[in-house]
Amino acid sequence: GLSFPCRESTRMDGINVIEVTEDISLSGHLCSQESLNIATNFQFQDSDILLVTFPKSGTIWVQHILSLIFNKDDIQNQSTIPTFVKIPWLEHKQVFKSVMENEKSRPRIMTTHLQAKFLIPNLKNSKVRVVYVARNPKDVLVSFYHFHKFANFMPDFSSFDDFFDQFLEGKVHYGSWFNHIKGWLGVRHELNFFVITYEDLSQEPYQAIQSLAKFLGQHLEPEYLKSILYHSTFSFMSQNDQLNFSTISCEIYDHSKGKFFRKGMTGNWKEYFSQDQDVRFNNVYQAEMRELTFKFPWSLD
Ligand code: A3P
Repeated sequence: GLSFPCRESTRMDGINVIEVTEDISLSGHLCSQESLNIATNFQFQDSDILLVTFPKSGTIWVQHILSLIFNKDDIQNQSTIPTFVKIPWLEHKQVFKSVMENEKSRPRIMTTHLQAKFLIPNLKNSKVRVVYVARNPKDVLVSFYHFHKFANFMPDFSSFDDFFDQFLEGKVHYGSWFNHIKGWLGVRHELNFFVITYEDLSQEPYQAIQSLAKFLGQHLEPEYLKSILYHSTFSFMSQNDQLNFSTISCEIYDHSKGKFFRKGMTGNWKEYFSQDQDVRFNNVYQAEMRELTFKFPWSLD
């Protein structure tokens, strides 16, 4: 199997960080050497569904939509268990192990933020359905910035400008956004792969969810689709205490500093980027994304 020797360290601010490779670090609160080993050596089955996202791209949103799609007859109850319990992260401690050991239902659905290189050897030549969620990286950056303030286990940054630089250089947990999307989309033709974007989900939720369901081989009657749409809106999800993280201990999330369901909109970056930062971001984006022949619905202006 694959092995990625990690180095665990505690920073000056008391935050535990796991350094995996030169360009990848993970949260020591969420991951460990053992949990990463489980992820990189995971034995996928052809019926599995793997949700892949860079953090803050709409992970919880699509987790919830997946649980609604696969529990059509029990939609009401899908908001009573947190999505991170039902569709756990492959690379996380505890939850993943315990859930998967008891998992009898098919398909098994799991989440990962890991870059492709960690999982590709076990995914290639499988029929695992991979759902990749992409979001305008400018909005990802702003959302991630706020998440660092909200989550006590994430490193602190001195300012937005500081975080901006680190994100652009790929020095945030899970590494560079650009490497993440290029890595996964670069192998899309070798996998059973589907891309869904935060922007399509926001602007055309009906079509977006319908094509997702189709990829997953699920037929949705119009009344189900309507109900899924209703239960996956920002207002429904953000007001549901099992979904919105509000019941999670203050030691983990500082509820005085923010909310998981923050804005839920596209283009919020415009309120944060300076003109200079915008130019710099666009330059990096153009250089990094040149090789990727994929049309994304987001606008960078
Ligand atoms: P913002 O911080 O921009 O509000 P993830 O689940 O990958 O961590 O992503 C979190 C982001 O998705 C947050 O973005 C959150 O508000 C947004 N989000 C979650 N559910 C949503 C929904 N139903 N509709 C729109 N945005 C949603």
